[in-house]
Amino acid sequence: MLRCGMEYSDLNHIKTREELKAFVESFEDCPLRQYADKTVFSGGNPTANIMLIGEAPGAEEDKTGEPFVGRSGQLLLKLFGDTGYPRDKVYITNMTFWRPPENRTPTKKELATTHALVLKHIEIIAPKVLILVGNVPAQTLLNTKIGITKLHGAWQKLALPNGTKIDTMAVYHPAYLLRNNTKTPDMVADLEKIKAKLA
Ligand code: URA
Repeated sequence: MLRCGMEYSDLNHIKTREELKAFVESFEDCPLRQYADKTVFSGGNPTANIMLIGEAPGAEEDKTGEPFVGRSGQLLLKLFGDTGYPRDKVYITNMTFWRPPENRTPTKKELATTHALVLKHIEIIAPKVLILVGNVPAQTLLNTKIGITKLHGAWQKLALPNGTKIDTMAVYHPAYLLRNNTKTPDMVADLEKIKAKLA
């Protein structure tokens, strides 16, 4: 039985997105997997310049196996679409591949079990820009305690284990925008920075 919590070096044999997907789908003993119906690996276009990493699948994602299809995912992808990046021009995934019970935030321990897989995922996709959607991916991957209200909108370099450095920006989570739509103009300004970077 394959177990979660492997080290990055345990993944050296994985070279392609398909191999990584098959590897993730073969886990049977992962803390979150037991509660979820589906493994939600990714969506959108694997050859896109932009890779978005969210927190975790929600109820709709767990039903369909597709990331960012629920209410907040739809808002996020509408905002990207309005900026010129519809679903087929972005690649989307999450920090965990399984829905946490009652949509709670994944714990640090749960996030640690998939951290190496997420790094491998970024390395394989090799996007031009990486967008971390909300506090959970931003704080985990940038290894910081700084909150999203301070982090969002600033370009940073994320260093991957293979030595590549990726232009990375944290943005607000769409669920936060649904609760505080006064932050939507900030989000739109951040999306314009992404567009400018890719122009
Ligand atoms: N849908 C996802 O798949 N992830 C999120 O972070 C939010 C909505």
